[in-house]
Amino acid sequence: MDWRSLRATRAAHPEQKAALQVSDNFIAELLEANEIVLATPLYNFAVPANVKAWIDHIVRHGKTFSIGEQGYAGLVKDRKATFILASGGVYTPGSPAEGYNQGTPYLKAIFGFIGITDTKVLLAGGTTALAQGKVQESDFLQPLYAEVAAAV
Ligand SMILES: Cc1cc2nc3c(=O)[nH]c(=O)nc-3n(C[C@H](O)[C@H](O)[C@H](O)COP(=O)(O)O)c2cc1C
Repeated sequence: MDWRSLRATRAAHPEQKAALQVSDNFIAELLEANEIVLATPLYNFAVPANVKAWIDHIVRHGKTFSIGEQGYAGLVKDRKATFILASGGVYTPGSPAEGYNQGTPYLKAIFGFIGITDTKVLLAGGTTALAQGKVQESDFLQPLYAEVAAAV
């Protein structure tokens, strides 16, 4: 599909214009920020559908990425992003479980695609044990507070 040809035909109907306005607003909000903090749970090893829907609105040809002779290029420059992923399980980097966490590589890839490559990841893994009372809230949060403090 040639995405460039879509520009001429989109937003012909009121519903399309309304959808485009949502996308425009999200993109304006994104571009206004010099640092993006995206906090999300992990659902079925990936980001939830509402986070994916937001991504589908902000990744737009001509706005946040371009297609040129050299291929794709991200247009959102000089910004940082921090991803905070809460998960029931624990996906420690280097552990056998790491590969199941598709949220981190996906967020890095899609933000990189629009030009945001300066990223940090905070993994808040183990919310199931917390919910089951196997871990005290303070014990769960303390290392995360330290990571947040180090990240800001
Ligand atoms: C639909 C659904 C799918 C989930 N899938 C995963 C998963 O694949 N891996 C995981 O570690 N946690 C999973 N969880 C747990 C969430 O990550 C967890 O709810 C989140 O960390 C927030 O914690 P809380 O529900 O105690 O507030 C899932 C939760 C829901 C509701």
